[in-house]
Amino acid sequence: MAKYDNSFTDELRARLSLVDVIGRRVPLTKKGQNYWGCCPFHNEKTPSFSVNEEKGFYHCFGCGEHGDIISFTMKVNNMDFKSAITELANMAGMKLPDYKPKSQEQIDAEESYLSIYENAAKIYSEKLFSPDGEHALSYIRGRGFTDDMIKKYRIGYAPKNNIIANKFVNIKQDKLLTTGLCRSGDYGLYDFFRDKLMFPIFNVHGQIVAFSGRSLDGSEPKYINTTDTEMFHKRQTIFGFNFARDSIHRQNRSIVVEGQIDAIQMQCNGFGETVAPLGTALTEDHIALLCKSNRNIIFCFDGDGAGQKAAARACGIVLPFLRDTSDVKFAFVTGGKDPDEVLKTSGKVGMDKIIDSATPLIDFLWNMVNQKFLISTPGGRSQAEKFLKSEIDKITDFEFKNEVIQEYNKRKFQQWHGWKKSKLDTIKIDLPSADNLTKNTLIYIVNTYPQIASQYADFLGELNISFDENINSDVNLSEKAAEKYIKSLELNTNKQNLQNEKKQLLSDMLKNGKNDELTQRIQKIDDEIKSIDIELESMIMD
Ligand code: UTP
Ligand code: MN
Repeated sequence: MAKYDNSFTDELRARLSLVDVIGRRVPLTKKGQNYWGCCPFHNEKTPSFSVNEEKGFYHCFGCGEHGDIISFTMKVNNMDFKSAITELANMAGMKLPDYKPKSQEQIDAEESYLSIYENAAKIYSEKLFSPDGEHALSYIRGRGFTDDMIKKYRIGYAPKNNIIANKFVNIKQDKLLTTGLCRSGDYGLYDFFRDKLMFPIFNVHGQIVAFSGRSLDGSEPKYINTTDTEMFHKRQTIFGFNFARDSIHRQNRSIVVEGQIDAIQMQCNGFGETVAPLGTALTEDHIALLCKSNRNIIFCFDGDGAGQKAAARACGIVLPFLRDTSDVKFAFVTGGKDPDEVLKTSGKVGMDKIIDSATPLIDFLWNMVNQKFLISTPGGRSQAEKFLKSEIDKITDFEFKNEVIQEYNKRKFQQWHGWKKSKLDTIKIDLPSADNLTKNTLIYIVNTYPQIASQYADFLGELNISFDENINSDVNLSEKAAEKYIKSLELNTNKQNLQNEKKQLLSDMLKNGKNDELTQRIQKIDDEIKSIDIELESMIMD
């Protein structure tokens, strides 16, 4: 039977939000875990059509229609499969791959590739327990591997001589070369892996498609991996995924570590949901694979500079996959250790501690921006803004993205511009009772543009206004004007408070004489007033 390549449709499912796609046709509202709307496939007035983003399917309790993003697109547009994935690929900004069934030849070639790898793994396993492999066996045992672990992960030893080239003489040279196990030299074929501790790399179905070999004599590079072949693409393969898949479902999360020994030790010590990329930096494909199960990921990196850099990269890659239900965090293993060593010295408890103290993505990104740029200067803040914006723009879940923007707006306001909440707490803003227009305008804005109100919640909360009051119908503002209004009111109020504080300080100074602390505070107030004036001015120009 002809088989189609699923990786493209899987990627479509991973990249597109089901709620977004269905939401374009059917107004949806979130209730509990699911989104609900009126079923597009039968006539109804009360919503019985539910959409589950996490699981990636919809179900109608009225008519029983059921399916995923592709079947929805097919049914609602009355399209065939190919047109549906074309349309979805356009939405996701992906190029449609050549869409052709596998030929019998291709299937045969794959089968023989897999059987060569299977046999090679058997040979390497035997060698590990032979006199040739003695040093390899004692090395891996020294790293805390039990015989059960060696068996489960099918760890082996590639001897110094060309064992594959010699034992596989019956196989056509071309075929052997395409597996990457042998290379062609002046004297015929020779083995790619020689005197290496061998870690098989499994595909998602648990078939061996490549190897990673660790050097045993301290020579560099420490690890060599099969170079990409028809059946093995390093950028798409995550070490340990075949073993971790069930745990990833059960634990409802995955853990990503940097090395394969770490991944194995984690899996065998209570963290079955752990995987590792293969020496490459993390790719979009790796994340897409993990996100098929759920979108909860804990990245576990080295605490050093390289680890921070890798984390920053991972953050950028994972952003498009984030949903409002996702839980993505960054943990750092400090002291130059690997998870492997943490487990050895302090067991599962030690590793739990590190994982429990992981930083949520939103905080990680915020901290990163604050470290990367010189926030105390306008230039630094401007660069930081641009960087932050480019990162946030990667989020595809629309509502979630808006919430993230607002969250960062709040932090910028409070942390960058010195408006600590504690300070605001001490300032009670009393609007003059005579100023009914201001009051009515604010009530109008809060009731008409709740999104603006929530952005300025801190400020509004300080005001002595009951927002349930009836509003004067004379007020009428566009959203943009409303935002400007409230922002300038806030800035002016803050300016006023600063001026009052300054007055107070000046009179203290007259009474008690000058001191450094007072002078500095006054200088700071002047700076703040100046920056408020600049902001106010730019709002007028805008
Ligand atoms: P590390 O250098 O941190 O090695 O590389 P490690 O995992 O701690 O190795 P052990 O514990 O000494 O055995 C992390 C991962 O990067 C890949 C491997 O997959 C390794 O597990 N790597 C590293 C390579 O592919 N090539 C290399 O030369 C080094
Ligand atoms: Mn290590």
